[in-house]
Amino acid sequence: MEVIVCDNYEELSLKAFEIMKKLVTEKPDAVLGLATGSSPVGLYENMIKDHKENGTTYKDITTYNLDEYVGLDRDDEQSYYTFMYENLFSGIDVPLENTHVPYGSTEKECLEYESQLEKVSVDIQLLGIGQNGHIGFNEPGTPFDEPTHIVTLTENTREANARFFEDDINKVPTHAITMGIGTIMKAKKVLLVANGENKADAIHDMVEGEPSVDCAASALQNHPDVVVIVDKAAASKLSN
Ligand code: F6R
Repeated sequence: MEVIVCDNYEELSLKAFEIMKKLVTEKPDAVLGLATGSSPVGLYENMIKDHKENGTTYKDITTYNLDEYVGLDRDDEQSYYTFMYENLFSGIDVPLENTHVPYGSTEKECLEYESQLEKVSVDIQLLGIGQNGHIGFNEPGTPFDEPTHIVTLTENTREANARFFEDDINKVPTHAITMGIGTIMKAKKVLLVANGENKADAIHDMVEGEPSVDCAASALQNHPDVVVIVDKAAASKLSN
């Protein structure tokens, strides 16, 4: 696991962008695993700016997102599909038919998403991390080999996400469909971005803790190519 500590969110986003740009330039038909949430927004802004200013193209890129809430329509303003459209897809030239965001609430829909992923090889999987160490929506206790599945979101995750739902936890969906840790681990490379003091414990447990299902992200210690980009606050509990 390579850990890069940046001074601030802008630097972190730029560093993540450099890795992403290198990949899409060297491999114009790359498969990107993407994440929602606030952590990757700066990276997505850099990708859009670079596309508009320098013409970096995504016309042959394919994308697969990590997760989606159960019970929200695709066009709901809080759905992860809408998030991806507004924060990235509408600002670059990726054909929408090449973009995939999981959707559904049944075992069959989970299997379908997993089998789509089995037909491709994800070149880079972008991740944020939850305060409780979740990646995707793999909450503490999730087995490390699990494929795409339906999860019950923890109180902690729903509280953290209430900021997107008028600060009302009751409006936050209770379930989500998510790539499993087993799915995530198949990506050739993992790029995890995190900022802020509220992520410091999770970053510590992921990087320096014993791999344990108590911290889903600690599974990444067993992946051969992981780059973690954090700001000073998120790195503040690392001993090295
Ligand atoms: C998002 C996802 C989540 C977030 C995590 C951090 O697709 O799968 O694991 O990455 O909850 O969220 P933010 O970045 O909003 O702090």
